Order: sequence, then structure tokens, then C-alpha cells
Amino acid sequence: MSGTGPVLQIESLSCGYGRFDVVHEVNLHVGRGEAVALLGPNGAGKTTVLRAVMGLVRNRRGSIVVGGTDISDLPTHRIASGHAAIAPEGRRLFTDLSVEDNLILGALHLRRDRPRVQALLASVYALFPVLKAYRRRRSAFLSGGEQQMVAIGRMLMSDPEILLLDEPSIALSPVAVEIVARALMALRERGASLLLVEQRVDVAAQVCDRLYVLRHGEIVEEMSAEHARRGEHSMIDTYLG
Ligand SMILES: Nc1ncnc2c1ncn2[C@@H]1O[C@H](COP(=O)(O)OP(=O)(O)OP(=O)(O)O)[C@@H](O)[C@H]1O
Ligand SMILES: [Mg+2]
Repeated sequence: MSGTGPVLQIESLSCGYGRFDVVHEVNLHVGRGEAVALLGPNGAGKTTVLRAVMGLVRNRRGSIVVGGTDISDLPTHRIASGHAAIAPEGRRLFTDLSVEDNLILGALHLRRDRPRVQALLASVYALFPVLKAYRRRRSAFLSGGEQQMVAIGRMLMSDPEILLLDEPSIALSPVAVEIVARALMALRERGASLLLVEQRVDVAAQVCDRLYVLRHGEIVEEMSAEHARRGEHSMIDTYLG
């Protein structure tokens, strides 16, 4: 919980599926209260990096430290108990369950602390008031943007040190993308630290302080979001193209 070092420090991460590595010697860090984007073309390994942080990729070397704790060898349920949480690619909601039950699933490790769970729920509803109005509704009946809000809310319910978001803007309407981007900026104002995988360079540059570009499983570029916002991201476009 303490310390002035980065909240997430990934060193020499190599990992993949079966015998093949798809991520090679990746080094990246996220400072406390910092928002960092991980950009890259399809298949670059962005999701694999996030899954590795959550302990979901078996074949993995290197070290991953969150808030001063080496989580490299922890099982996923321990990592998810307040170290890191993910709003995954495709949202992965339990569509038969209500909005509120989906949210509460994010706080499994806190279930004995009802006041804390209620306080976290209240903060999610403050961020996304529409979810409070729909809290008894089955998630299947929500729009894509509302489902993404539930996925982000569920991630927040575990009260993690680092938030991992995998393409939260994908397949959303422009209005919904704007709502998600504003929510991420509000989280930053609350002091959250986040690692955001995005295909929208504009969203990443709007929300984040720093950007990394991953290509063929390697970090090939690192720049300030300021640099990208000034429109000097032709390099990124080249990498993403
Ligand atoms: N479960 C898996 N088993 C085997 N190979 C996989 C698996 N998941 C991903 N891969 C492969 O690993 C590589 C990296 O995939 P990954 O999903 O991390 O890419 P990505 O950068 O997130 O791409 P996208 O932008 O399309 O989401 C790809 O070549 C992919 O085919
Ligand atoms: Mg992906």
C-alpha cells in the first residue's frame, strides 16, 4: 500500500501460450496516480500483458510488482484481492445477473466487510448514476456502454491498487466512448492508477499521461501523452497501421 515507487513495475516480462512467447522482455511501469496507455496493433500482445499481471498466463517469466509486493507467483484470486483488477476485453459480465450482483462479484474478498462493500457500491453509483437506476436490471438488458460501465464498476469494487482496462471504448457509440473517457478522468482525479489498453489514440492521449506502443510483443515506443495530443503521433499511426 505504501511507498513512493511505481504502483506497477513490470520487468523483463516474457510470456505466451504453449511453448511460444508472444510477449518479449517487456519493461513498463505506472506511477502512483498515473494513467498509462498501452497501444499497439491487433495481436501485438496487449491483452496478454494485462492477463499476465492478473496471473492468468501460465508460461511467464520476469517480475511484476504492485505497490511494493511481488505478485509474480501469486494465484489470480490473491492478485484480485486488492492488488490489481481488470475490466476485460469483451466485458465478461454475468448477463443473467443483475447489475448490482455483477458489481458485488468484484468485491468477493471483502464480503465480510459489508460497510466497505456498501461504500464501494456508493462510489461506483456516484461515478455512473445510470447504474444505480438500473441496479436490479439484468445486465443482458443494458446497452453496450452501460455494460462497459458495469465492467469498470466491478473492477473498482475490489478496491485495487492498479486498474487494468482492456479496450473499454471498443464497439461503443461516440457518446458512450465520451462517457467512459470522462469516467476514467474522474477516477484519475480520485487518485487512481491505471493501465489502459486502447485502440483509440485520441482517447488514450486524452485520458493518460504517458503512452507505450507494443508491437510483436515488444515495447517499441514510449512518449508523453502531451506529445501525442500535439498531433505528433504519426509515429504511433505508423506502428498501429
Ligand atoms: N489463449 C491463447 N492461446 C494461444 N494463443 C493466443 C491466446 N490468446 C492470444 N494468443 C495469441 O497471442 C498473440 C497476442 O494476443 P493478444 O490477445 O495479447 O493481442 P492484443 O494485442 O490484445 O490484440 P487485439 O488488439 O486484437 O486485442 C496473438 O498472436 C494471439 O493469437
Ligand atoms: Mg486484446
